[in-house]
Amino acid sequence: MTSQMLLKAREYEAKEEGNILSRPKVHLSPRAGWMNDPNGFSYYGGKYHLFYQYYPYADHWDSMHWGHAVSTDLISWEYLPAALAPDSPADKDGCFSGSAIELEDGRQLLLYTGVDEHKNENGDNYCLQTQCVAIGDGLDYVKYENNPVMDNSILPEGASKYDFRDPKIWKEKDGTYKCIVANCDMEHDGYIVLFSSTDAINWKYESVIARNNKRYGRMWECPDFFELDGRHVLLVSPQDMENVGLEYKSGNGTVCFIGHYDEAKKEFVEEADQCVDYGIDYYAMQTTETTDGRRVMIGWMQNWDTCNTHAPEEKWQGQMALPREISVINGRLYQRPVKELESYRENKVEYTAVEIGTDKKALDGVNGRTVDMEISLDCSECREFKMYLADGNGRYTTFSYDTYKSVAELDRSYSGSRRAIRHSSKCQVENRDGKINLRVVVDKYSVEVFINDGAQVMTATVFTELGADGIYFEADGKAIMNVTKYDIR
Ligand code: FRU
Repeated sequence: MTSQMLLKAREYEAKEEGNILSRPKVHLSPRAGWMNDPNGFSYYGGKYHLFYQYYPYADHWDSMHWGHAVSTDLISWEYLPAALAPDSPADKDGCFSGSAIELEDGRQLLLYTGVDEHKNENGDNYCLQTQCVAIGDGLDYVKYENNPVMDNSILPEGASKYDFRDPKIWKEKDGTYKCIVANCDMEHDGYIVLFSSTDAINWKYESVIARNNKRYGRMWECPDFFELDGRHVLLVSPQDMENVGLEYKSGNGTVCFIGHYDEAKKEFVEEADQCVDYGIDYYAMQTTETTDGRRVMIGWMQNWDTCNTHAPEEKWQGQMALPREISVINGRLYQRPVKELESYRENKVEYTAVEIGTDKKALDGVNGRTVDMEISLDCSECREFKMYLADGNGRYTTFSYDTYKSVAELDRSYSGSRRAIRHSSKCQVENRDGKINLRVVVDKYSVEVFINDGAQVMTATVFTELGADGIYFEADGKAIMNVTKYDIR
């Protein structure tokens, strides 16, 4: 039975949807109100399902529901009614992040974190986090009557019962279920716990598969774990990171560990680590496998420290970054927009061997605020190449490449933000004698730059007024550029 609370959310979002007039074109935004993490990213009943952390009633985080959308091509999404509301004892203070899987009998199971607030003897609030289940048909879900299915009694000794969240479930070849959940010790140092089950309801503790050991931030959120190109990959979103060279930035960040899984010890063995997205706004990514075997990752295109940058006149906040096909090549994670985006291209404009110099150069037909561009550059005869995006009225966002240091930078300092927060970000790029290639996707409120076939990606939200649609190029010497630009229809 659908609760009053869920009915109210469904009625509200259906009414409010039409009041949101300016949405990104190819990035999913909340049906109404607020969106954070992607949840339950999966293929079910002939469609991709994407749920999301959701508060329909305002443009800020509050008691968490699950929003719901489906797509056949991962680019165009159709909203479905909200899937979960915090309407049961185990989740009365929020249905936090989780994942989805199809059961043997054809139903879809959602495994998510229930939050239940209590007061201690001093009157202070504390939250218990447990794992809960809801089962449904791809539209309506019924919460399991004996939720939670995992509470803190299942955790190893010394575990925090307050930070135990974001289960990611998968099915093994033998039909058993596994899931990993983020947890931490009493000092708030994150680790990832593995559980197993034959029915996705009764769970057994297996092991701690990975530990932070005070290296990458503190608590780790939203873990994901899978095999990719013969390796094992662990994705986590750590809180409270510190700057480490150009690899990791302070605040909430993203880390990809590449390594192998030791079956006997039930432990993941790290071999390499890297940042997932070197820009400003990317967090809480989750993956699924497509029907043709691609591993696709989607992330929340926002950061907890930058939530105050959205368009103030809009009643919504939060977007998903583009779904990205990921692969491991020579021990690195590579990302590129899902190939389905290519069928949204129109109005091709192409230039070859254009010379870029000290004058800010415009190219006929190369402009717009919903743009997909491929650029290859030879910067061997300049020190810096710079591209201006969403440029107009004195506002702009730049992507630049320093050929001496082989450092790329995405900078939205002059995009019109009135907030004193981080507006630029740098990353180290492999030095190829001044040659670099870029795929640049600009949507109404974002810029994503995929560098060198996706070896690095930089993402930032940009809330410059939509009339600012100029694109310009500049170099402090000579750069030679090939560019193919499409509008996104
Ligand atoms: C990550 C996160 C998750 C949690 C959710 C709550 O952004 O903090 O750990 O489940 O957001 O909305």
